[in-house]
Amino acid sequence: MPELNLILIGPPGAGKGTQADRLREDFKLPFISTGDIFRAHVKNETELGKQVKSILDSGGLVPDELVLEIVAGRLDEDDVQDGFILDGFPRTIPQAEALNERLQKEGRRLTAAILIDVPDEEVIKRISGRRQCVKNGHIYNVHFDPPKNEDMCDQDGSRLIQRDDDKPDVVAKRLKEYQDSTSPLIDFYDREGILRRIDGTRSATEVHDHIRAVIATLRLEDNV
Ligand code: AP5
Repeated sequence: MPELNLILIGPPGAGKGTQADRLREDFKLPFISTGDIFRAHVKNETELGKQVKSILDSGGLVPDELVLEIVAGRLDEDDVQDGFILDGFPRTIPQAEALNERLQKEGRRLTAAILIDVPDEEVIKRISGRRQCVKNGHIYNVHFDPPKNEDMCDQDGSRLIQRDDDKPDVVAKRLKEYQDSTSPLIDFYDREGILRRIDGTRSATEVHDHIRAVIATLRLEDNV
């Protein structure tokens, strides 16, 4: 059966990480989040972490060369040779072109670019309520998906924290970066015929069901 290579696009707080977490369970696919990779480097105070910390904190984008180096290394690993879910990458046209080139060289291609569409007002509300487990990264929302005990992860009892880049002024910058640099990818993938739009304003379960239905249709059409 041909491999399933998915990318998730959407504004900050659209629910990409939430859905990627569910989809990796459904399809037993490795999930690569460039945001998680950079945050881990910042937390571990690596050289790369020191380089990107101020960029993440300000809501800017990490330069393409650095992102491409990290992703290229990750795509070399064994677990992604039969399919993957990319969350937060590509985020610029040069990143998308580099990914296409890389996959073409290997005789591979993207199956779908899934756009989780959510308006700014909703994104701002979601981000203000987001809490993340310090240990396993599990995501909660005090408005929509609260943990059983305040500030404590249901899964392992670890502390829940707010991301440094979830402050309102940083969120505004991230939304602007999305508009300026990432939203052109919508036309890019539409022209390639692989864009699939999902109404991200519905509940996380409805969004998940919709994405699974889209993938099921792709599999029927394409024998993916
Ligand atoms: P990254 O981590 O990728 O951040 P982002 O794209 O801004 O996305 P988020 O993680 O904020 O949101 P999400 O869509 O995953 O939403 P979530 O599922 O958490 O990147 C961070 C930074 O790294 C960037 O700013 C940049 O500096 C750098 N970077 C990363 N990749 C890069 C690249 N390729 N190039 C350059 N720089 C890069 O959900 C949000 C909240 O909503 C949660 O609380 C969740 O519980 C809740 N929620 C989710 N779905 C629903 C729903 N349907 N209804 C109600 N609530 C919901």
